[in-house]
Amino acid sequence: MKKILVTGGAGYIGSHTLIELIKAGFEPVVYDNLSNSSPIAIERVEKIVGQQISFIKGDILDVELLKQTFKEHNFFAVIHFAGLKAVGESVSKPLKYYENNVTGTINLLNVMQEFACQNIIFSSSATVYGNPETLPITETAKRSCTNPYGQTKLTVEYILEDLCKSSQFNAISLRYFNPIGAYETGTIGEDPNDIPNNLMPYISQVAVGKLEKLSVFGDDYDTVDGTGVRDYIHVVDLSKGHVKALEYLVTKDGEKVGFDPVNLGTGNGTSVLELVNAFIGATGQAVPYVMTGRRAGDVASCYASCDKAKTVLNWTAEFDIKRACVDTWRWQSHNPNGYKS
Ligand code: NAD
Ligand code: WQD
Repeated sequence: MKKILVTGGAGYIGSHTLIELIKAGFEPVVYDNLSNSSPIAIERVEKIVGQQISFIKGDILDVELLKQTFKEHNFFAVIHFAGLKAVGESVSKPLKYYENNVTGTINLLNVMQEFACQNIIFSSSATVYGNPETLPITETAKRSCTNPYGQTKLTVEYILEDLCKSSQFNAISLRYFNPIGAYETGTIGEDPNDIPNNLMPYISQVAVGKLEKLSVFGDDYDTVDGTGVRDYIHVVDLSKGHVKALEYLVTKDGEKVGFDPVNLGTGNGTSVLELVNAFIGATGQAVPYVMTGRRAGDVASCYASCDKAKTVLNWTAEFDIKRACVDTWRWQSHNPNGYKS
């Protein structure tokens, strides 16, 4: 059984990925400082999979603990979710983001190199495409970023590219589009600390009565109804994409893959109003909203070309928006205060 280090494994995407890893026969070891997550998420995953999961409360800025962890385990690969992700906060606290996301990743890569673990799957983001020139976005599109969070993702991609060129390292950079949804049990899901920045958790918190109404950021974009268009992907599909990427590295074991970026999306664009209406239709809940001005830094439309994920990883998203709305609502309504419920 191949051991996989899962940094940030207690978080939203990480916790869902643990389930798919175990289902596929991998042995995950979670390394998370719990700065944006709860140990309850791991307990809930243990209940879903019916087995214990190794958990290390640790920070990727703690090099000694990273070394200790690699001394104790022989990892085939690392799935590197650990990172801070709030775009707005990254603008006001850029050093915090560069230190955590870039320095933390350099620490991890140094320790991986020291212990001859040379396979990494990195949580990148569609944010590296900035304002896309053409749609759907392919992996060869020009990269640029407009905020420090995005810059940290882009910087790590450049670091991984250079490292792969200079060594036997293999790095699959999974560029997530907009992850939404929750596991079908409704026991794990996205649990924002504060008022959500992202659309789907905002909608579900309005529906459950925690927030009064949704502000729709702009209705004058050149899109189907004037509101922003994104590629919303179910978190379970996204998690399966990580397993496919690992399996790809397993089949290539010994052979050089190098740096390989792959989009994980659905290929479909959905507007803000379409998502709101899909949520209302799927759950029967009311979602009051008002139109407000555009949010700084937002682009009109962003959706993926998923051809590479299909041909290289043999992965395609299976769930639709409706299913993601139903699953989000099950999680939100059963856990109105997230893991604090
Ligand atoms: P999340 O905040 O739920 O999970 C990240 C986890 O990393 C948390 O459990 C947090 O405690 C942990 N962490 C943060 N800094 C750490 C550190 N220094 N040491 C150890 N652990 C640390 O976020 P998520 O939505 O699950 O995102 C996972 C990854 O995917 C992140 O890198 C994020 O930037 C990236 N990503 C997320 C989205 C999205 O919309 N959710 C989109 C694209 C990319
Ligand atoms: C989606 C759409 C908003 C909230 C962000 C990050 C990106 C990635 C995913 C990590 C847009 C509109 C939103 C609200 C709204 N994260 N909206 N009212 O901006 O595509 O991407 O999360 O890597 O880096 O930038 O996602 O969910 O914030 O917004 O109208 O209260 O919903 O304007 O059109 P975004 P989002």
